[in-house]
Amino acid sequence: MPHHVGIIMDGNGRWAKTQGKGRLEGHKKGAEVARNVVQWAKNLGIKQLSLYAFSTENWQRPKLEVRGLMSLLSVLLPKTLPDMMQNGVRFKTLGDLSPLPSSAKRAVQKAVEATRHNTAIDLILCLNYGGQQEILAATKNVLRQALLQDHPEQAIEALTTSTFRDQMWCHDIAPLDLLIRTGGEMRISNFHLWDAAYTELYFTNVLWPDYSQQHLQHALADFQGRERRYGLTSEQVQS
Ligand code: FPP
Repeated sequence: MPHHVGIIMDGNGRWAKTQGKGRLEGHKKGAEVARNVVQWAKNLGIKQLSLYAFSTENWQRPKLEVRGLMSLLSVLLPKTLPDMMQNGVRFKTLGDLSPLPSSAKRAVQKAVEATRHNTAIDLILCLNYGGQQEILAATKNVLRQALLQDHPEQAIEALTTSTFRDQMWCHDIAPLDLLIRTGGEMRISNFHLWDAAYTELYFTNVLWPDYSQQHLQHALADFQGRERRYGLTSEQVQS
C-alpha cells in the first residue's frame, strides 16, 4: 500500500456542465467526494493523503469562483471537523496561507489545532500551493542560512537533496508515492514537484465528482503492480 497518496481533483467544472449546473455546484459536489475519499483512504490503510484543493495559479480564475471556493473552505471545514475527529484524521495544510481570507485561515487553524493528536491518517490539504513556489521558498531559506555562516560557499557545497528537502514546506511529510489525477489531463500542474522525481503517476478520465471507492481501489491495485526502481535495474531491485 502506498504510504502517501496525492490527488489532483480535476473535472469539477466539466461535471457541472454535464448536469446543466454552474461551476460552483461542481466544486460543492467535489468537496463531498473529497470528504469521502479521506474515509476510503483511511479504511484502505493509506497513512497520508494530499488533496490539491487550490493552486497558486487558481487565483486567476473568475472572482466569483475563487470567492466560492474560499467560502466552501470556511463553511465546510468546521462542518467536517466531527467527522475528522471520529476517524482519527490529522488535518494539515501545504502552501502559503497568508493571502487566504481570514475566515478560511481561522477555519484551517482550528482544524489543525483540534486534530493535531489524531493518528489514523494525515489529510494534507494543499491550499495556495505550488511546487515551484515551494522549491523557491526552500532555496531562499537555504541561501539566507548560508549567508549567516563564515564560509557561505562551504555551506552551499555541503547541501544534499536530503538537507534541501528539510527546508521545504513538505519537510515533515513523506515523499509522495502515488499521484492520481482525475479528469483526463496528463500533467502534474505544479503539484509536489520535488517528490514527483520518483512518484508513480496514475491518470483517469473519471471526473472528480464521479470518483468512487472502486476507482481508488483500481488506482491502488495498479500501483501495487508497478516496480519502483529508483534508477536501479529490475534485477537489483529484486535481489
Ligand atoms: C479542478 O477542477 C478543481 C479545483 C481547482 C478545485 C478543487 C476543489 C474541490 C474538490 C473542492 C474542495 C476544495 C475547497 C477549497 C473547499 P476544475 O474546476 O478545473 O474542473 P474542469 O477542468 O472540469 O473545469
